[in-house]
Amino acid sequence: MTILKLDIHSLRNIHHASIKPSGNLNFIYGDNGSGKSALLEAIFILARARSFRTANLKQAIEFDHSDLVVSAQALLNGQQQQLGIQVNQQKTQIHINREPKKKADLAYWLPTQLIHPKSYKLIDGGSQLRREYIDWGAFNLDPLFLSNWRHYKRALQQRNRLLKTRQLMQLNTWNRELVKYGELVSNLRQNYLEQLKPVLTELCGHFLARDDFELHYLNGWNDEFSLLYLLEYEQEKDLKYGYTHSGPHRADLEISFNGRKARDFVSRGQLKLLVLCLQLAQVKLQENSSRFPATILIDDFTAELDTENAGKLVKYLFSLNSQVFMSSTDLPDSRFVDNLSDVKLFHVEQGEVKEQPVAISRKK
Ligand SMILES: Nc1ncnc2c1ncn2[C@@H]1O[C@H](COP(=O)(O)OP(=O)(O)O)[C@@H](O)[C@H]1O
Ligand SMILES: [Mg+2]
Repeated sequence: MTILKLDIHSLRNIHHASIKPSGNLNFIYGDNGSGKSALLEAIFILARARSFRTANLKQAIEFDHSDLVVSAQALLNGQQQQLGIQVNQQKTQIHINREPKKKADLAYWLPTQLIHPKSYKLIDGGSQLRREYIDWGAFNLDPLFLSNWRHYKRALQQRNRLLKTRQLMQLNTWNRELVKYGELVSNLRQNYLEQLKPVLTELCGHFLARDDFELHYLNGWNDEFSLLYLLEYEQEKDLKYGYTHSGPHRADLEISFNGRKARDFVSRGQLKLLVLCLQLAQVKLQENSSRFPATILIDDFTAELDTENAGKLVKYLFSLNSQVFMSSTDLPDSRFVDNLSDVKLFHVEQGEVKEQPVAISRKK
């Protein structure tokens, strides 16, 4: 999906903005507090119906205003599509081609990867982030993933409820349901990661000059045993805590170099590059395998990378088919944009977004 036109109303300090982005690379620059992240947040909200800056989406509504609206005209397989989201204190409404839709529809139509200053948490932080990482890919690659995952989640909720209320009679039924969908979810995740590995290895070679990279999926239960056996074996423990201890909701992803866990020994700079590789690998695979190429959002990109790697990144982004929005406080280094066509430059100042000719800004 390529965004041809983006309209934002009442999102943080952006009262109104309307831009026609490039299908390839868009640089967004402006001072701190000007609204660059708000602009990227708008696209993220349109794609995921949530914010990456706050758990409560309503906080993104402009102060003293009732409704935040983000809409886009986008192009998919040569056809124009209309996407829109409206958020107020009461509800969130989503429309695709004027029909009411759900969050998952937006996520499917506008798959979006966000790289921002806290992205390193993907490696450094809790396992939830790594499960979300895998699930983003599995969801986009295989249409079966979402329904299996929903069935699994329902079975897990039911089982946990029975544990808490000690209704043991029905436990067997939900154990079987949990195992059925748990194994399906697990297989789809592993299948996705198998496809991701070669792409990731190539990217690690490119950005980190390492080829000893390993990715290991931990399925969330002791795999010497079947999940069904463990659910029965751990029943007492599960009853005590009112919680299911084994299953794909506890899965994790181990990332290592030459047998050593990355989180334990890589430097901060390498960590950032590694996360970049992980995220770009998903985008690249998405491009190879889906009819919905991903949108890439990179917030504060020069703060994240040294000049050499920033240049490498921009060149790599140009080699992709994806639409990219990247923000920084400075004008992009002219070396990044030399000989590169189809770039658009947007300046943000106190919530006003204005397109600028790339050639003029290079002379500055
Ligand atoms: N709900 C809101 N309504 C109005 N302004 C807001 C709201 N939330 C944050 N702001 C302001 O919006 C501005 C834009 O911030 P931000 O997008 O983070 O800028 P940048 O990324 O360019 O540094 C900030 O000055 C902030 O104080
Ligand atoms: Mg910012």
